[in-house]
Amino acid sequence: MKLGIINGPNLNLLGTREPEIYGSLTFEDYLNGLKKKYAEIEFQYFQSNSEPEIIDCIQKMKVDGIVLNAGAFTHTSIAISDAVMAIETPVVEVHISNVHQREAFRGHSYISPYAKGVIIGFGLEGYRMGIESFLSDYLK
Ligand code: DQA
Repeated sequence: MKLGIINGPNLNLLGTREPEIYGSLTFEDYLNGLKKKYAEIEFQYFQSNSEPEIIDCIQKMKVDGIVLNAGAFTHTSIAISDAVMAIETPVVEVHISNVHQREAFRGHSYISPYAKGVIIGFGLEGYRMGIESFLSDYLK
């Protein structure tokens, strides 16, 4: 099984960015743990601060499922939402923080209507939960 993980803007700063909200682990360290735990899965990881690069990646990734945290573009980007709508590959939307406990603008997602599901507020574990959702589909 091949799974993609796509992180949007500022998520390259995980570990140092607002650790009280996002924790103090870098994504690279977390991803290494995922790769060990799910040795049978081939992971493709992409992070970008650029909206068009994220759209290109969504369009081009050849995987069985994508775990997407589009960061702030979640709340602004019709173009990323269109890309998620356009592809056949299922996408699970993840947010590390509980966006509904934060500023009101974070409560709206352009992506959620086209996502297979949405995982919010479980910290980095949300990515693992997204992976598990694909695995349980796969085993059906
Ligand atoms: C985030 C929540 C967004 O509102 C924010 O802009 C992010 C991270 C999260 O994972 O909690 O960059 O997507």
